[in-house]
Amino acid sequence: MRVLVVCLGNICRSPLAEGILRTKAEEQGLLWEIDSAGTGSWHEGNAPDERSIAVAKKNGIDISAQKARKIKKSDFDYYDLILPMDTSNRDDLYEMTSTMEQRNKIRLIMDVVYPNKNISVPDPYHGTEKDYVSVFEMLDPACEKIVSLYK
Ligand code: 4NP
Repeated sequence: MRVLVVCLGNICRSPLAEGILRTKAEEQGLLWEIDSAGTGSWHEGNAPDERSIAVAKKNGIDISAQKARKIKKSDFDYYDLILPMDTSNRDDLYEMTSTMEQRNKIRLIMDVVYPNKNISVPDPYHGTEKDYVSVFEMLDPACEKIVSLYK
């Protein structure tokens, strides 16, 4: 299974999702390939936001070595599952697809726990540490469910 998690900058939400998902997949002995990307390119090559690194670390996950990258066309063929954080990311991804097969790989990450509710993980970039804790608390059960649904 190849899974790509996606947000806007690839420095706050999707690096956290990548770290959580990788940890849970490894705990289950799954040989999943997991990566994250942004729909924007402003932070390309950068490490995750310090606040994301901190909340991950508090939960025993090291995401500090990750590097931001922008999503590319070939990701839609390479990955089996593409999980955007919010409806805006999702719509940007839909615009980049050229086949139904590619389109069908896209699923809002919170849809796995709240199907068809269109729930977004809020962008914490202009927020506080508390907002990063909220992001973690949304992503943790979602990643747990992804592993159990797709393993
Ligand atoms: P992310 O958060 O999409 O969760 O990585 C953001 C990070 C940076 C920006 C926006 C959102 N930005 O506009 O630079």
